[in-house]
Amino acid sequence: EKREFMRITVIGTGYLGATHAACMAELGYEVLGLDIDPARVASLSEGLLPFHEPGLPELLRKHVKSGRLRFTTSYQEVGAWGDVHFIGVGTPQRAGAGAADMSFVDAATTSLARNITKDALIVGKSTVPVGTTRRLKSLVRENKRPGVRVNLAWNPEFLREGFAVVDTLAPDRLVIGVDSPEDEKILRQVYAAAVAGGVPLISTDFETAELVKVAANAFLATKISFINAFSEVTEVIGGDIRTLADAIGLDARIGRRFLNAGIGFGGGCLPKDIRALQARAAELGADRSMRFLDEMDGINLRRRERVVDLARVMVGSLSQTRIAVLGVAFKPNSDDVRDSPALDIADRLADEGAQICIYDPAGNLNASRRSPQHNYVLSTEDAVKNADLILLLTEWDEFKALTPEGLSAQTGARKIIDGRNVLQAKAWEDSGWSVASPGRRF
Ligand code: UGA
Repeated sequence: EKREFMRITVIGTGYLGATHAACMAELGYEVLGLDIDPARVASLSEGLLPFHEPGLPELLRKHVKSGRLRFTTSYQEVGAWGDVHFIGVGTPQRAGAGAADMSFVDAATTSLARNITKDALIVGKSTVPVGTTRRLKSLVRENKRPGVRVNLAWNPEFLREGFAVVDTLAPDRLVIGVDSPEDEKILRQVYAAAVAGGVPLISTDFETAELVKVAANAFLATKISFINAFSEVTEVIGGDIRTLADAIGLDARIGRRFLNAGIGFGGGCLPKDIRALQARAAELGADRSMRFLDEMDGINLRRRERVVDLARVMVGSLSQTRIAVLGVAFKPNSDDVRDSPALDIADRLADEGAQICIYDPAGNLNASRRSPQHNYVLSTEDAVKNADLILLLTEWDEFKALTPEGLSAQTGARKIIDGRNVLQAKAWEDSGWSVASPGRRF
């Protein structure tokens, strides 16, 4: 059976690529990961993961040790060795525009095509504007060596940071966009173990596959902004946003997940994906259809302003106020601070003269690189010690477990903003704390 001998390569070893490479090795394949950053390749080759992702370091070490998983900077090596080449490089937001920067995907595809010396399939995983696969097919055709068959397929990735390994090994669904039955067969073989385990595989055309990914993220972003829009209403009229979410969430058609009101969505995907989708729709003359996403983005950014406003109301003037920020990662179980609402709020408060002291269980290092103006400490206790006001901005378990008694022993502050609506406000107020949170009248 071909499966036994199929050699997998993964181009780009960021969150997506490193996870995919390690998981493909876990599925039994020989895998070669490529990154243009020699430092990253050196670190991964020693089994060291340069970012935080639960379960991934163990998988990486296991398969680097067994020799099933290797890393390189050489396209020549990858092109001569692999049968199926996954592309997992980034598609960041283009500077000064909403559209996606496709330069990494284009460069990876071109380099692959030039270096592939035997029949192979290139499979894109990155989140891309609809129409990309078709465009890249021409790029491959122009750059590939004569006599070798190199085709292209798209297989969007739906993993969540913090759950990357489980999401990759046991996804809700697999989606493949193909234009030939042979390529579909190859991808079905690649994912045979998952499919045998009951994972639905949807095989479709390029455009649908590309759109499934952005539609899913647009829906999730909309769901979060929907509840956050209602939190703007309860802030004015009163009412309990969490109970509202629980109650509508019990309708199976709606569902409770992604209805947590708070400081809004961030991270390397949702914010940039909805902007890229709008930009692409505009290029296609369908701008009106995606215009509602403007509103979702707007609601999302207003949540950050709301926290700054609440801080101002709670302490009077922000100038010289000492603020402890608990959590800067864009979500718990991650060290990622890309487009983190928490870090943005800290920056805005600092701009108004507040002194910020930050503690995040995993995000301190990345945050300090982006926003070196703040003070970073290694525990909640050190963060809150001299604070006038405390902000809980990422719902790590250790922050959710905070109690008014416990925290009162560590600080003289009696003011807290619960940005993620995870504390029982009543208990804190009974203990003499003043509590504000998004969605609550204050
Ligand atoms: C998201 C999607 O959930 C994945 O399916 C997708 O594959 C990924 O983007 C991607 O495109 O690569 P991720 O960015 O890891 O995954 O994070 P999410 O768990 O979706 O959270 C996104 C943001 O929404 C976080 O800032 C989180 O705090 C916020 N959020 C989430 C809320 O504010 N409320 C909620 O109820 C849920």
